[in-house]
Amino acid sequence: MQLIRRIPWKKIIPHLKNYCLISSMIFHTGCLHTKTKSNGQVLPFKKVNYSIAIRPILDKHCIECHGTEATESGLDLRTLKSILKGGESGPSIIKNRPDESLLLELIEDQIMPPEGEPLRKKQIKKIRSWILSGASP
Ligand code: HEC
Repeated sequence: MQLIRRIPWKKIIPHLKNYCLISSMIFHTGCLHTKTKSNGQVLPFKKVNYSIAIRPILDKHCIECHGTEATESGLDLRTLKSILKGGESGPSIIKNRPDESLLLELIEDQIMPPEGEPLRKKQIKKIRSWILSGASP
């Protein structure tokens, strides 16, 4: 463990992108497990599934007002299909584009949920990763 902690990951990670490029030229393999952010930072690619990781969060914190008892702003958060369809402001998420996804923006700015227990940082991060990795079912 000590050894792993001593590796200067922060310095190494940006170079992984070049490593991917070179290795894909030599070995004809892509790098499936990293994703490049717009600022060039390479992130580990983490697959998150809606039914396993996301639905329970929305069921607990959101669907009371967006599905079961009301559909505020015309938004039903009970299914992936209805999440993608969105509400009055249009689609609530855009696949692969967390920063253009209204749902994430409102959660991160702590506007949603407007009452009750706010989402934990870890849950918000999970939703971000899910959208970034393509909002898989
Ligand atoms: C207590 C009720 C309540 C809860 C719980 C709630 N919302 Fe909302 N939500 C609203 C209301 C009311 C609006 C409309 C706000 C407005 O128009 O100013 C809204 C609007 C939205 C919108 C904008 C929809 C559109 O198309 O205009 C999104 C996205 C959203 N909520 C996401 C969420 C998410 C995600 C959660 C759970 C983390 C959540 N909400 C929990 C009441 C709620």
